[in-house]
Parts: sequence; C-alpha cells; structure tokens
Amino acid sequence: MEAEIQIKQLFKKYPDGTEALKGINLEIGKSRFFALLGPNGAGKSTLVRILTTLIRKDSGEFFIDGFNPESDFSKIQGTIGVASQENEIDPSETVENTLVFQGRLFGMTKSQAAGRARELTGMFQLDSEKNKKAGILSGGNKRRLHCALALVHNPKILFLDEPTVGMDPEARANFWEIISRLKRDKGTTVFLTTQYLDEADRYATEMALILNGEIRYSGTISEFKNMVAPGNNMTLDESYLHYIKTLNNNELTKKYEEA
Ligand SMILES: Nc1ncnc2c1ncn2[C@@H]1O[C@H](COP(=O)(O)OP(=O)(O)OP(=O)(O)O)[C@@H](O)[C@H]1O
Ligand SMILES: [Mg+2]
Repeated sequence: MEAEIQIKQLFKKYPDGTEALKGINLEIGKSRFFALLGPNGAGKSTLVRILTTLIRKDSGEFFIDGFNPESDFSKIQGTIGVASQENEIDPSETVENTLVFQGRLFGMTKSQAAGRARELTGMFQLDSEKNKKAGILSGGNKRRLHCALALVHNPKILFLDEPTVGMDPEARANFWEIISRLKRDKGTTVFLTTQYLDEADRYATEMALILNGEIRYSGTISEFKNMVAPGNNMTLDESYLHYIKTLNNNELTKKYEEA
C-alpha cells in the first residue's frame, strides 16, 4: 500500500498538561476513505489539527503525500483541503468573495477564482446565499461554506472534521454525493471524523478507533464488525457501542481485581 498519510509515534500535550495524543501510529493509503472514530475528547480534532499543520506535534513524525511538514510546509498546504468548525472565515465578507479570495490564495487568476466560486456555490446549493455576509449565514449554510472552501483548489487529500454537523438531510445527502463523486472521479483521499456512524458506515471503508489519545483499533470497517460480533451483521453504530461497552466492562473488572 502506498501510504498517502503516514503517522509515526505522534505525541501531543497541550500547555495545560492534557495529553491529547499518546503515540499515534497510522497509515492511510492513496484514494482511501478513512474514518477516525471515538468519543468526545478522545483526540480526533487534535490529530486533524496537527496533520493539517494548524498546531505542532510534540514528538513523532508524519508525512502527507510524502511531504514532511517541517521542510515542505507549503507543498502540504497545496495538497490538502480542510473542512472543520475551526476554519476562520471573515464574517463581514460575502460568501462569494470568501470563495474567490480562497482561490486567489491558491494562485488562481481573478477570472479562474470567480469561475471556481460560481461552480462551488452551485455545487453546495449556496446560490441564494452568495451575496450574504458569511457571519450571518445559518449554521448549516456556514458548514456548506466551510466544505466548499476546502475544495477550492481541488486538493488530493481532504480532511473533514465533523463536516455535516447542523446540515439538513438534503444538504447532507448533497454533500456526500459531492465527496463520493470526487473520490470516484479524482481519487481523492478522505480523512473523516464524525459522530454520525451511519455516514462512516456508508461511505468509509477503513477506520481507526481512538480512545484517550490512543488508537485501539485500526483496519477495515468490515473487519471491525466481524471482530466485535462475528457473523452478526451489525451496523457500525451497533458494533461501536458494543465494543466500547466491552472495553469499559473489561476496565472496570480490571480495577475491581486490582482493588
Ligand atoms: N487548546 C487546548 N488546550 C488544552 N486542552 C485541549 C485543547 N484542545 C483540546 N484539548 C483537550 O484535548 C483532548 C482531545 O480533544 P479533541 O478536541 O482532540 O477531541 P475530539 O476527539 O475531537 O472530541 P469531539 O468528538 O468532542 O470533537 C480533550 O481532553 C480536550 O479537552
Ligand atoms: Mg473534535
């Protein structure tokens, strides 16, 4: 497997002492659709922030499309697209201009950037919103704009940190159609975090489960289901809950035995 995202022994401790990542090892192949799953506070967004060079790791290393973040920072910026709730958007700028500026940032000419902005407002059904200031968009439409911004430069790798939170069912279906098409036509690699396990079940093929900053499982989704309850044909949601419950029970038993 040609690893598009390679992560070795990654550690991150926040200044207040929270150890958010405790030695993460992962490899994600080219054109794969990977879902990082885990409870609130497990470390998913921290890992995404590090991989997308928003914050720095403490130790370990990672490569994005073979690029090292320390020496090839700008190459990584051109390779990845990021949609997360933390994306900064100027609230006083219109939707259309926000998209045009993003295109200009990635080296497009004025007319290229305007064309791409038109394409994306169409794709994300934001035409009626394009002259509105980003700051007054509804929650779901803001998410659509975040997602559109991530795609402006046709990135090879997409990081989606809970991309569909707050989107209505139609917008959500439309969003996944866009992502599926990109994956099919362009071979885009997708790194998704979500709490909607039905989305991961439907679109991703590979997954990792992170708990307290440690990877507890990584492999295909079907192997995970099979490991949790062989031959049971559970949904990912059911398998996940079952697995977490077993882990909690085991840990409780261990504590009881130690006491
Ligand atoms: N800036 C920060 N300073 C200190 N601690 C932080 C900071 N950001 C996150 N943390 C802590 O790091 C841990 C991991 O947080 P993170 O946001 O990565 O979790 P997550 O898996 O994305 O959770 P969620 O599913 O709720 O989005 C948590 O304990 C969180 O409180
Ligand atoms: Mg998060």
